[in-house]
Amino acid sequence: MSNLYSENLVALVTGSAKRIGAAIAKGLHAAGYDLVLHYRDSQLAAESLAAELNHQRANSAICIQANFDQHDSIKMLAEKTMAQWQRLDLLVNNASMFYPTPLADASLQDWNSLFNSNLQAPYFLIQALADVLQKSKGSIINIADIYADKPLGNHSLYCMVKAGNVMMTKSLALELAPDVRVNGIAPGAILWPESAIHDTQKILDKIPMNQLGGPDEIVNLVLFLANKTHYMTGQIINVDGGRTLNI
Ligand SMILES: NC(=O)c1ccc[n+]([C@@H]2O[C@H](COP(=O)([O-])OP(=O)(O)OC[C@H]3O[C@@H](n4cnc5c(N)ncnc54)[C@H](OP(=O)(O)O)[C@@H]3O)[C@@H](O)[C@H]2O)c1
Repeated sequence: MSNLYSENLVALVTGSAKRIGAAIAKGLHAAGYDLVLHYRDSQLAAESLAAELNHQRANSAICIQANFDQHDSIKMLAEKTMAQWQRLDLLVNNASMFYPTPLADASLQDWNSLFNSNLQAPYFLIQALADVLQKSKGSIINIADIYADKPLGNHSLYCMVKAGNVMMTKSLALELAPDVRVNGIAPGAILWPESAIHDTQKILDKIPMNQLGGPDEIVNLVLFLANKTHYMTGQIINVDGGRTLNI
């Protein structure tokens, strides 16, 4: 690591090697942010994204590995982030595990895996970075899910932790005001999951807009919440093509 002081705004985006996280990172970079790209297993994808961003603007992106199932890794990620740029203006808690856990089969390992990635790590990352975000009058965006509010069948653990993620956003918005704004984004169907098998047409039929949203919809809202508003905090905004009208 090079221990640079960044003159630019700096963002840490968790789970940003691929998919929605990578799109958020690219969108922020295009808006002038320097970036910490966090990844767990997707080292090649993270490094290739960092290379692409550094090619566009030298010394503008670094990668840091952390597995949120190891609690110490959260503090380490916060410390390495600060050691690199000496500042932080935006934290996007995007990393997540998502898979079904029917009650009869759910294990403590499932509980921990879904809890750690979706709720425990975001909370303790915020705790570790609250001081520096207060100094920069920065902002936090937690990526939740529309299923935090209305449950998805056989996904009780995921829905429970995303509901906790929503309450974390509201509680910490109150606690960190007026210096740090904390908001949430609740996506509907943006990208199909990589692993799960599902009846895609059945899901599309329930979406009034009748299509997937695509990551740019999330990117635009991240940019808006980070920079275009200075008065919104504690809000959870659905980006779901009207899906919650039809649940
Ligand atoms: N996709 C959708 O349509 C949709 C719908 C509703 C809500 N969301 C929410 O939007 C966000 C992004 O969605 P996505 O589908 O792009 O996410 P994703 O691909 O399922 O996961 C994003 C990243 O999270 C990281 N991750 C998972 N467990 C981790 C752990 N224990 N420690 C550290 N990193 C971990 C993984 O990093 P590595 O690959 O490096 O291991 C993964 O690439 C998530 O919060 C998700 O819940 C998405």
